[in-house]
Amino acid sequence: MNDVLVIFGPNLNMLGTREPEIYGSESMADIMAALTSRAEDLGRRIDMIQSNEEGVLVTAIQKARDDAAAILFNLAAYTHTSVALRDALAMFDGPKVEVHLSNNDRREAFRQISMTAGVSDGVIQGFGIDSFLLGLDAVHRLLIRRGDNGVVRKIMKGDIG
Ligand code: DQA
Repeated sequence: MNDVLVIFGPNLNMLGTREPEIYGSESMADIMAALTSRAEDLGRRIDMIQSNEEGVLVTAIQKARDDAAAILFNLAAYTHTSVALRDALAMFDGPKVEVHLSNNDRREAFRQISMTAGVSDGVIQGFGIDSFLLGLDAVHRLLIRRGDNGVVRKIMKGDIG
C-alpha cells in the first residue's frame, strides 16, 4: 500500500508556462520532484497522478480506498464544480488534505467556493509549490496521529531488510 496518493487536477500539467504570475514558474515535474524528496525525508511512500478528466479522478479516488492511506489533492478547477469528486472523497476514510498554489479567497468569487473542502481534514492555499509540501507534512502528521508512523516503519523495514 502507498502511504499517500497525490492527485493533480486539470491544467496542472501546464504549470510553469500557465499564468506564471498566479501559479509560479515551477512545472508539475518540479513539484513532483520536490514532493518525492520530501516524502523520502518523512519516510512516506507516495504515488502521484494527473488527469484533465473528472471521471479518471473519481476512479483514482475510489481505487485509493484499497491502496492508499491518505490523499493529498489539488483538483484545480474541479474544486469549484465537482459534486462527483466530493462524493468520491467522502467515501475515503483516511486523511484528506486539499491544496492550492494560489489563494482562492483573494481571487474571483467562483474560486472562493470549494465543493471538496467540506470533506477534507483541511485546506492549504496561497503558498505556491510550498502548499504541496506543507500539505504533505499535514498528511504525515495526520497519519502519525492515527498511529501510522512512516519513518519508524521505514527504519524497521531497513532493519529486517
Ligand atoms: C488552483 C486554483 C483553481 O481555482 C484553478 O482552477 C487551478 C489551480 C490552484 O492551485 O491555485 O487550476 O487549484
